[in-house]
Amino acid sequence: MKKIVLLLLIATAFFACKNDSKSSTKSEDNELNVYTHRHYDSDKQLFEMFEKETGIKVNVINSKADELIQKMVLEGEQSPADVLITVDAGRLHMAKEKGLLQPVSDKKIIDSIIPSNLIDKDYHWVALTKRARVLVYAKDRVDPTSLTTYEDLVLPQWKGKLLFRSSSNIYNQSLMASIVANDGEETAKKWAEGLVENQARKPKGNDRDQVKAVAAGEGDVAIVNTYYIGKMLNSNDRTELEAADQVAVFFPNQNDRGTHINVSGIGVAKYSPNPEAANKLINFLLSEEAQEVFALSNYEYPVNENIENSEVLKAWGDFKEDDLHLNQLGELNKKAVILFDEAGWK
Ligand SMILES: [Fe+2]
Repeated sequence: MKKIVLLLLIATAFFACKNDSKSSTKSEDNELNVYTHRHYDSDKQLFEMFEKETGIKVNVINSKADELIQKMVLEGEQSPADVLITVDAGRLHMAKEKGLLQPVSDKKIIDSIIPSNLIDKDYHWVALTKRARVLVYAKDRVDPTSLTTYEDLVLPQWKGKLLFRSSSNIYNQSLMASIVANDGEETAKKWAEGLVENQARKPKGNDRDQVKAVAAGEGDVAIVNTYYIGKMLNSNDRTELEAADQVAVFFPNQNDRGTHINVSGIGVAKYSPNPEAANKLINFLLSEEAQEVFALSNYEYPVNENIENSEVLKAWGDFKEDDLHLNQLGELNKKAVILFDEAGWK
């Protein structure tokens, strides 16, 4: 009797193993695990389009960006992640530094679609969309001809009038990294001190809150990513809509290096169970049909240069972009954090 039970156990274990290996092979061929920080309808639509075109099922694992990176670190070689999608070049760089990514396979295709400053030098990540970090100002109180550059925000005329979020925010860290890259450390530190000197209040809230504070008269000029204005202008929330209506967008540094640009981007996970499908997804997301969806539904600038901007973005006009290589934003991130700290930017 004991023997029969043992044989049965072995047989069950054998079949269980067989089934396991079968189903895992199947999932590797036909499924893709996307770790993403983006939580937009546009992305959902794009994954559905990709599923239809390729027959590869997309499983979305949504979480905060730093949590996703931490999850990948903890999972190590066992990580089911095939791709990581996140925002800000600083954060993409962090994922690369932690050894979480591998080079994309179709470098030539990517080179032909995106400008080189938007691609990691080792091809560990590529940009999907661009956003500009602009100034928004109170239409009724600020003459736009008084605005010029990020650097000029230190002028005494802006005392008590500037609004910006905390220096712990990666968008500000990347902006600071761009100031360091363009102006040098000393000037960058003085710049941060000057902005703190001119702040309307201690940094608090997110980008949208800065726009609302301008509308509420707490300050006159705020530093904000472009797509938040687009979203607020098209929001169902009345307070957002009304706040966005009271501000206008200004692109700084048009007579020198151009306005600071950042991206959302994607990379193939280092231990991707299905790197072939991961690369297929990247190529798809850079294709004209996918870039059009990004451009139309999320008020971001497409990285595929054949695609036109959405109407909201067109209304703000063309502008000159700072074409600093985005690797520098990552490389200078730690320096930016230290300088912010020294300058007292909370
Ligand atoms: Fe954002």
